[in-house]
Amino acid sequence: MTILGIETSCDETAAAVIQATDKNTVVTLLSNVVATSLMLHAKTGGIIPEVAAREQIKYCLPVIHQAINEAKIKPQQIDAIAVTYGPGLIGSLLVGVETARTLSYVWNKPLIPVNHLYGHIYANWIKQAHSDTKEQVPEFPALALVASGNHTDLILIQKEGQVTVIGGTRDDAAGEAFDKTGRMMGLTYPAGATIAKLALQGNPQAFILPRPMIGSNDFDFSFSGLKTAVLNLIKKNNWDFTSQAFKKENSQLLFDLCASIEKAIIAILVRKTLKAAEAYNVASIVLGGGVAANQKLREQIELSLIQQSPTVNFFVPPQYLCTDNGAMIASAAFYRGKPVPWQDIAADPQLYY
Ligand code: KG4
Ligand code: ZN
Repeated sequence: MTILGIETSCDETAAAVIQATDKNTVVTLLSNVVATSLMLHAKTGGIIPEVAAREQIKYCLPVIHQAINEAKIKPQQIDAIAVTYGPGLIGSLLVGVETARTLSYVWNKPLIPVNHLYGHIYANWIKQAHSDTKEQVPEFPALALVASGNHTDLILIQKEGQVTVIGGTRDDAAGEAFDKTGRMMGLTYPAGATIAKLALQGNPQAFILPRPMIGSNDFDFSFSGLKTAVLNLIKKNNWDFTSQAFKKENSQLLFDLCASIEKAIIAILVRKTLKAAEAYNVASIVLGGGVAANQKLREQIELSLIQQSPTVNFFVPPQYLCTDNGAMIASAAFYRGKPVPWQDIAADPQLYY
């Protein structure tokens, strides 16, 4: 079947078309279009929900139109429309939900509401058209680490439909820790990818930063202590990252700080994920969410698994499917979604697993 996926939960307006046949194999990506209003938010250092929603309205239909064209199909060939109904910003969510609802009514197609968080997980069940990537789907029981701007969750999937949240963040999310420390260093929002890039030239041992809850007896996370430690370090040393002159003269300091922050965040994510995989004796680990695009995180989980638990299969989507996209929504709809009448779908900003 052919599924159109629509994602508008935050600042990305995204649509994609996938081809799905059988739940025992991966789905194939036919098109994947993402428009982002990040450039607008970079100026303000964070997302202004009203601005994000207005941008969603501007891009929603053009992005869907392009996704259908690039998939080289006609709307009549679509078998179902999948849309994110939460969690996210209410104004942004409403644009996608209302658009999907209207298209479902006008084209007379089934409508499948999808939880964005499951979307990040099911990004691991997608293969690109004409690519050699593996056809194999993650085997259950699987452990998912969903690390995004608002979530740092460890999810145990015993089998399709049987899901337990085994850990989450007590305060800030991992992505938030990247974004907020980035802001302290004068980097534009969102800062995760920039910190990772600058860290390549830095010394990760330069600053000893705390790794909150890394050894705790549970699978929860906490990142606010790390954030405060970075703020205190910057204040104590009177580093003025708002000044371009200071940044230019102290570029190595910035690289070292980025490397040390990245190392601390990743150390916590790797340790807790491996500990959970061992405790629940899982067959696979899957990563998802924007932070899963981090190259060091991907490498370190893979390396630690080879050393400690070589029988566990490791899955991580290509980087462009880690950040928000419509393909992951269409994929989650295929494996675990159920169609609802268009009258019955409502955006839910607080939706959880
Ligand atoms: O999943 P996502 O695109 O949106 C949400 O659902 O929140 O995740 C965005 C988060 C941001 O906090 C961003 O800084 C982070 O993912 N991120 C990264 C990288 N790329 C994006 N964090 C670390 N390293 C990266 N390469
Ligand atoms: Zn997301």
